[in-house]
Amino acid sequence: WPTGAAWADGELTIAGIGVRALAAEFGTPLYLLDAADFRARCSTWLAAFPDGDVHYGGKAFLAPAVVGWLAELGLCLDVCSGGELAVARVGGMPPERVVFHGNNKSVAEIRQAVSWGVGCIVLDSRHEVDRVARAAEESGARQQVMIRVKPGVDADTHASWATGGERSKFGLSIASGEAAEAIRGVLAEPSLELVGLHSHIGSQIFDLDSFGEAARRIVSFLRAVESEQHTVIGKLDLGGGLGVRYLPGDKTAPTPAELADVLHAVVPDDIRLAVEPGRSIVAPTTVAVYEVGTVKDRFVAVDGGMSDNPRPATYGAAYTAVLASRHSAAPTEAMTVVGKHCETGDILVEDVDLPADLMPGDLIAIPCSGAYQRSAASNYNLVPRPPVVAVNENAVNGNAAHVIVRRETEEDLLRLYP
Ligand code: LLP
Repeated sequence: WPTGAAWADGELTIAGIGVRALAAEFGTPLYLLDAADFRARCSTWLAAFPDGDVHYGGKAFLAPAVVGWLAELGLCLDVCSGGELAVARVGGMPPERVVFHGNNKSVAEIRQAVSWGVGCIVLDSRHEVDRVARAAEESGARQQVMIRVKPGVDADTHASWATGGERSKFGLSIASGEAAEAIRGVLAEPSLELVGLHSHIGSQIFDLDSFGEAARRIVSFLRAVESEQHTVIGKLDLGGGLGVRYLPGDKTAPTPAELADVLHAVVPDDIRLAVEPGRSIVAPTTVAVYEVGTVKDRFVAVDGGMSDNPRPATYGAAYTAVLASRHSAAPTEAMTVVGKHCETGDILVEDVDLPADLMPGDLIAIPCSGAYQRSAASNYNLVPRPPVVAVNENAVNGNAAHVIVRRETEEDLLRLYP
């Protein structure tokens, strides 16, 4: 639960505002983001890397308001598409603090990034070395770049989120010589300036040793390249990936400070460290709120589902859920919270203990819903996507709760059809 969450007579509150009032004002399904918690988590990361850079992984969840918080606090931003670049710009991130990722950026996206003046582009193939060099020449700028390398470390996580192994589509292999060849290519392009190496071994990782092992391999590669090429590669960006706890029974996640200790033990002080946490900043800050529509057998059907949270259906990701709108004295039963979509796999939470007297109109809350949910939401079954409301902004701008992503409407959807 976000740090601003509390319970008042069975009702979930965030920063003292009850979920019933929030649902009445903004409708359901609804994502409630505790802005103070988001800021506090950003500060914890900054404090863990005082001499490095913290790039928020925008793919986890991005909105102009979020960009504003990051800009103000001094974080950098990792984006991976033209759309995320556009939100970074609109949200007021200084371009020199933006890092542009992706394994197949289009020429248009590269031009957009170069002409806006993004601080760094992470090159993921020899074709991109060429594309970014041409785009930089056209705009008359010298573009700072990093090379994404594959350290050959298989992190212990879901196969879809492991990216550091030799078989990953991301990055250039150190072992095969591909990475060294791309570096020679970059050094031969006057319009490119190689500022660092990048690696991201995966996501939702609890084992800090895999980060340490990746860092160790990349540092030894970096030193070899520096001496062969008579150059200095000043920066090492080790990506994101720190895990979070989704279920009360999950093990406790390592802290940013613990990750920093592991990395500092391997990375010499003359190399500037960067990290790219996404999930570990935003996931715990956000609660998904749904209204119960029908209760049948053991199925509690709510007004959202796999279109606003594709993670259970896509990865078998497990969540918990609670009754959030009232106190119930009824005994609990193992229930399955399902959505409104036309598939049996449209399950949000399987076998979770909920009061047996659940009824239509009750509100269900699912914690740890900030990462890869609203940002990965779809319009399957032409269901409009839910809004995100930031709560607990009082200290900052006097607003108790305000919309940072508005609810999509059927008119929005109809606009797509010529
Ligand atoms: N940097 C790069 C280059 C990345 O590809 C990612 C995530 C991050 C940073 C942030 O990683 P985080 O700290 O959030 O783990 N859709 C999946 C997760 C995919 C992760 C993609 N890359 C999910 O729902 O769990």
